Order: sequence, then structure tokens, then C-alpha cells
Amino acid sequence: MENKTVYLNGQYLPLNEAKISVMDRGFLFGDGIYEVIPAYRGKLFRFQEHMERLENSLNNIRLVNPYSREQWLEILTALLSSSRDQYIYLQVTRGVAPKRDHAFPEKTEPTVFAMCSNIVPFEGRDSGVKAMSLDDSRWELCHVKATTLLANILLRQQAVEQGCAEAVLVKEGYVTEGAASNIFAVIDGVLITPPKSSEILPGITRDVILEIAKENHIPYSEEVISLEALKTASEIWLTSSTREIIPVVEFDDQKVSGGKPGPVWQNMNRLFQAYKQSQS
Ligand code: PDD
Repeated sequence: MENKTVYLNGQYLPLNEAKISVMDRGFLFGDGIYEVIPAYRGKLFRFQEHMERLENSLNNIRLVNPYSREQWLEILTALLSSSRDQYIYLQVTRGVAPKRDHAFPEKTEPTVFAMCSNIVPFEGRDSGVKAMSLDDSRWELCHVKATTLLANILLRQQAVEQGCAEAVLVKEGYVTEGAASNIFAVIDGVLITPPKSSEILPGITRDVILEIAKENHIPYSEEVISLEALKTASEIWLTSSTREIIPVVEFDDQKVSGGKPGPVWQNMNRLFQAYKQSQS
């Protein structure tokens, strides 16, 4: 394990010295939220948008934001290198309580942890990946970036064991998102992604793609996608901060766009890379 410097409750320290109590509610209950923020050459990408989502997650679990946006910026920037592409993982839990009780403890200080890792370009990005549909077994607050990820983990693992890079989640016949990504499809020449709701995480990469589509006159729409319709798509993509835009070339054992990344992805990936460069 690389012994990098991490941030824990007001201190910077080597990773192997960063310890929390077993009574931390994050450990006992998964009672916390997190964010993943990419940083290109030392500059946090879409920092304000990530902070807005963090605030929304905290509000939803009734935790007060321990820091202002300026404080977060200072804390996180100190972990970054200006010569590399990296991402920040940060987590806020309800903190350490004197006893294990489901209801909130009366007074606790939140536990705040942040670390930085290098972005390694995702293996399947240029050649495309396999994906499979699975029933969305998650809870009803998927717009909250909660650390409680057991359903997502089991779904992703099931997909990986079938040789897939991601599980595409399906609720009542409609696709929601991936186990750790948002989904896009090109159907009849239109780029489609499901609308924001409590059934999906409002991905920051998703928003960037829609903005790029708008600026470049690529026809797009935010609407529900049935599993049936997804199976007729000429292209399927999965998007996230760490993997960026991943083309799916095989879905439920059927080839998508002839088994190779399609032209709309080629164009969007080029525009996305250029946009990233312009922001760093
Ligand atoms: N996950 N939907 C889910 C369920 C996710 O977990 C993620 C990202 C996304 C994409 O969001 P964004 O574009 O803001 O990264 C959508 C992160 C990367 C993770 O859990 O590690």
C-alpha cells in the first residue's frame, strides 16, 4: 500500500497512521456520505458542482457541512500534485458515538477523511466494454452519494464475475444507471440519458456531456429508456468521474455498434478530452 499523505479530522498524516474508532458510525452503519472529484494538473474539475452535490447529500442525511467551500478547496488542494491527473475521495460520517444505537447520537463531531489517487486511464475506454442488465436492488435515495454501497457492490461484482465491466440497473422495465456510473444511449440518432430523479445519482460527468452536446448541436434528450429500447440502441455509454465515457460494445450478450465504439462516442470523447484540457 502506497503510504501517501491523507487528511483526517484536521490533520495531514501518512495513510498508515490514519485511524478511526470502531465506534465510528461510518464503520458501524455506513452512516456517511462521500464525493469523488477529479483533478487535472492540480486543479479540481467542476469543484462548485461537486460541492453542491456534497451539500445536498449532507442535507439529505441531516448532517451539517463541517467546512465552507473555501475551506474544502484549501484542504483538498493541499493533497494534489500539479503535474498529474488525480482524483479526490472524500468522506464525511456522523462520527464516533458512545454506544451503538440506530438513532442519531445527541452530540458528535463528524469524521472527515480525504485522500488523493492517480487517475489511471480505464482499460476498456478505447476498445469498449461488456455490460449486462441486472435488477436495481438499491434503496429509494439513489440521488444521495451515501457510503452505504452494499447493493452497488454486489451488483458490480455479479457483473464482473460474468466478464462485464458494469451492471446496467433496471427498475420496472426502465434502466436507471450503472452500479457506479450513469448511462447514455444513442437511439435513432438522438443521445438519450434518463432524467434526474431520486433513482439515480446526478453525475457531474453526465452534466458535462449534456452541456457539450448542447454546445455542439448534437441532438440529445433526457428521458426514460426502457430495457427494450436500450437493446435497439446504436451506442451505449457509461460515464463517471474516474472512468470518463466508456463505450459498451456488448450488452446482454449482443453486440452494440458492431462490437466497436461508435461514431457519436468518438466525437463526444474527443470533445470531452478537449474540454478537460481547457479547464486545467
Ligand atoms: N461513482 N451513478 C453512480 C451510482 C455512481 O456511483 C457514480 C460515480 C456516477 C457518476 O457520477 P460522476 O460523473 O459524478 O462521477 C453515477 C464514483 C466515481 C464512485 O463511487 O467511485
